[in-house]
Amino acid sequence: MADTFDIIVIGAGPGGYEAAIRAAQLGFKTACIDDWSRKDGKPAPGGTCTNVGCIPSKALLQSSENFEEAGHAFAEHGISVSGVTMDIAKMMARKAKVVAQNNDGILYLFKKNKITFFHGLASFAGKEGDGWKVVVSGTASAELVGKHVIVATGSKPRPLPGVAVDNVRVLDNDGALSIGTVPRKLGVVGAGVIGLEMGSVWRRLGAEVTMLEALPSLLPSVDTTIAKEAQKLFTKQGLVIHTGIKISDVKVGKSDVTVSYADAEGKAQSETYDHLIVSIGRIPFTGGLKGDAVGLGMDERGFIEVDDDCRTNLPNVWAIGDVVRGPMLAHKAEEEGVAVAERLAGHLPHVDFNTVPWVIYTSPEIAWVGQTEQQLKAAGVDFRAGQFPFTANGRARAMGDTRGLVKILADRKTDRILGVHMIGPMVSELIAEGVVAMEFGAASEDLARISHAHPTLSEAVKEAALAVDGRTLNL
Ligand code: FAD
Ligand code: NAI
Repeated sequence: MADTFDIIVIGAGPGGYEAAIRAAQLGFKTACIDDWSRKDGKPAPGGTCTNVGCIPSKALLQSSENFEEAGHAFAEHGISVSGVTMDIAKMMARKAKVVAQNNDGILYLFKKNKITFFHGLASFAGKEGDGWKVVVSGTASAELVGKHVIVATGSKPRPLPGVAVDNVRVLDNDGALSIGTVPRKLGVVGAGVIGLEMGSVWRRLGAEVTMLEALPSLLPSVDTTIAKEAQKLFTKQGLVIHTGIKISDVKVGKSDVTVSYADAEGKAQSETYDHLIVSIGRIPFTGGLKGDAVGLGMDERGFIEVDDDCRTNLPNVWAIGDVVRGPMLAHKAEEEGVAVAERLAGHLPHVDFNTVPWVIYTSPEIAWVGQTEQQLKAAGVDFRAGQFPFTANGRARAMGDTRGLVKILADRKTDRILGVHMIGPMVSELIAEGVVAMEFGAASEDLARISHAHPTLSEAVKEAALAVDGRTLNL
């Protein structure tokens, strides 16, 4: 006899597990199935984000930043430390502990919300009555029937054609988060989000990092003012970034990897690294789901096709997160998961991609929401821009980190905020103000008139808003 549920969620990444929690809160009998395992075979819910993405990368970014600060920034404060060393095994063990805490936290939330969790691979097995039959194969096999199914199977790394990832020499995100000793030379193909974050970690720990980027400029989807500042700061830190390259060959040796490529001028180049990280984007993952057996509609790139409300072509089958169109971000997946659960309860939720913030956790951090200056120009929007550097912010000076700036773009006529862009200390936190402002349809004048505590980094946001009207107070 199959177990029956109102909602079956396939995948317990941030999209899936939050969809399941919201569904359970709304009174639905909910199951969630996920196949990720820990080394000992026990379940590891949380998906890419918790296991080999957001969480472990931020753990390593923090450890490596602490190491760099101790070695280079403490002296300015009068703190002398000598012989600062990094125990990589300990750093990795801490990362593993942080990941396990998050896995356990999700299992606790499943229990608390009375969600039935199945550890295994879920496949569609046709219809049963007006429900969908889903088979689980894993530690314990099961047959379930759900009135609704939410597919949240996530994504996997996009491979470089002809180059096999062995996670010894050629690394994907998983391997990049688990290097056992600091490489002398580290190559990174793709200077996108993962490349910059992982490149930063290993550079801070002492590796010579070279990034090979196909596009002519760094971070083309970031506002150009911010991208230029980022390139300047990252280069100063010692990250070598080659843009406009074309890889012709990757040879994997016993203890190294040699990459041959044409540089921006078309000149043949070759460089040998201890490891090569391949971070050239991610592709949707639907392996094992057997979506084709039930006619689940996919596009030519392998994304499950959905409408604005995450409805697939099959009745009562929904899809969310990295496996569907839109930004591949944990919080986007979460918002879609919650929205589908609420829609099933008769609510009318809406997810606006324009107010989904982006953060790149380099040092300094990069964060933005809304449209960039280049997008507004291309769309012919008449706007005003205001910016404020952290060099003029008292808190940043006191902290000893005055790199970067805040930039606000607002409609010239209505003053409505169209985009907020930042590079600087803790901007991953500051961007929330921009998101709130845009969600509430705020004008730059609104931000400029709101009292911001002194001295805080957030005063740079207020000053950038004042700058839109040409009336900064502290510059
Ligand atoms: P996933 O997290 O990929 O989860 C899908 C789950 O479904 C997995 O556990 C998978 O094993 C399981 N699954 C798949 N098929 C089946 C099946 N048939 N049966 C059972 N289970 C199945 N985003 C951010 O917002 N902030 C960050 O800081 C950030 N950092 C990142 C760092 C790295 C190195 C990487 C790789 C990604 C990062 N991301 C970050 C992106 C983020 O991880 C993804 O956007 C997010 O995980 C997508 O969530 P999801 O629920 O759609 O899918
Ligand atoms: P990305 O799309 O951010 O960057 C990939 C880069 O590789 C691009 O700059 C692209 O031009 C380049 N590239 C593509 N093909 C290439 C080739 N053949 N040779 C050289 N360069 C090439 O993808 P990335 O870094 O792999 O990350 C995947 C996604 O995961 C991100 O887009 C983001 O959605 C998510 N993520 C989010 C994070 C965050 O929110 N902080 C952190 C890490 C990942």
